[in-house]
Amino acid sequence: MPFTRTPGKVDPSVERLTPPPPHFVAPPPDPNLEPPRRQLSVAFGEKFKRTLFAPARHKALLGGRGSGKSWSVATYLIVQALQARKRIVCCRQFQNSIRDSSKELIEKRARDLNLADQFAFSDRAIEHSLTKADFLFMGLERNIESIRSLEGADIVWVEEARTINAKSMEILLPTVRKAGSEIIWTWNPELPDDPVDAYFRGPNGPPPRSIVTFVDYRDNPFFKDTEMVNEMEVLKVGNPDRFKHVWLGDYDLKHETKVFPNVSTGRIEVNPDTMPARYGMDFGFGGDPSFIVKVFINQDRKQIYIAREASGRVAMDDLPMLARSVVETDRDLIKCDSSQPGTIEFLSRRGLNVTAAQKGPGSVKSGINFLQSYSIIIDPSCEQMREEARLYSWMTDRRTGQCLSVPVDANNHGWDSTRYALEDFSLDGDEPGSDPYGGVFQLFRKW
Ligand SMILES: Nc1ncnc2c1ncn2[C@@H]1O[C@H](COP(=O)(O)OP(=O)(O)OP(=O)(O)O)[C@@H](O)[C@H]1O
Ligand SMILES: [Mg+2]
Repeated sequence: MPFTRTPGKVDPSVERLTPPPPHFVAPPPDPNLEPPRRQLSVAFGEKFKRTLFAPARHKALLGGRGSGKSWSVATYLIVQALQARKRIVCCRQFQNSIRDSSKELIEKRARDLNLADQFAFSDRAIEHSLTKADFLFMGLERNIESIRSLEGADIVWVEEARTINAKSMEILLPTVRKAGSEIIWTWNPELPDDPVDAYFRGPNGPPPRSIVTFVDYRDNPFFKDTEMVNEMEVLKVGNPDRFKHVWLGDYDLKHETKVFPNVSTGRIEVNPDTMPARYGMDFGFGGDPSFIVKVFINQDRKQIYIAREASGRVAMDDLPMLARSVVETDRDLIKCDSSQPGTIEFLSRRGLNVTAAQKGPGSVKSGINFLQSYSIIIDPSCEQMREEARLYSWMTDRRTGQCLSVPVDANNHGWDSTRYALEDFSLDGDEPGSDPYGGVFQLFRKW
């Protein structure tokens, strides 16, 4: 029967016969083709590139502050984790909590490079989702037993290697033994007989397959954009010897220009009933950080113990949080920087027990004299205080190199906080001098 079509009616069999409209069909994947790679462009200073990407067992990066050591190594480790399953262990001598580790820096660098979505960040570790490379963080001082996990490590980063003691070195070196494993050391030199310096710079020269590279801020292409430039210039003018130690990485052989040579790192058991905690807080403005410390004083033993710290360039609204990360309860009295009464009032309105320190004429010098007459022990967890202990310096005469007994106004925020915390003791018998600037020589930014 001939096919007839009723006008106005669609025959369903005809509909089915109509070919589908043309559309794009992806070709089957070619098994020989690699999956498309994301281009990653990462900038390294020249010396860092040469050292970190060299095939070597030991990669030692030592030198001055702000040279880019920590950031470059953190970035290098991320690049390694993208490429293969590697166990990366970031260790240091002192790590009380994960906050003291390099974890935050590695996370930050991953975010900066838009790679954060490729990593899983847990409380204590980081893992790359595809390669399964993982990062662990450990303090050698307390975990000398768990150091066994270093046996399987492909890369070990020893950050702040200046404080690594001989015992940790002895255990670490033979334990990192996986074929092809590498150890990266970063530090700011202090003394020739520190174990890490003796190992790499001793009379016998560095161990085989080492690459030892000196760096300073001039090797950091990003230095000029940092907050550190001003701090560096102030010390360069104020105390050229300490400038050479702090910024160029020379050994610290001129202790007399350090404001607090009477400092050691350690922990003291305190009985809060007999030795109440004292708190001091310095407020930052502009590029300066705010700082709060918890301090104990034992007048019989002539000891001051700096037990806890918090610091940061935080907005006013976040200051209460910063303070509460150190005080036990809101009732704890905090002696504060008196130059900002508005900030003290703000903290008081937010429920904290704050009062202005009596920052009178000559108070800086007399406070320093007082702190110098004690033995100061800084808890290992107080990284910023330990750094300030290393950096806080006297001005020196440019011609003679003699100390001027006027401190360079930098790296003193934790020390100011400590002075405030202990002012009840230091003001005893103090005779304020006539110095209208409280003994601080201010260097204004002219550059
Ligand atoms: N790749 C980078 N991109 C942007 N800024 C960088 C980079 N590397 C370093 N910087 C800047 O330089 C500063 C100093 O770098 P870094 O902290 O790594 O130096 P460092 O040598 O470890 O210093 P320190 O001796 O004080 O530990 C950083 O705080 C950062 O501002
Ligand atoms: Mg560093």
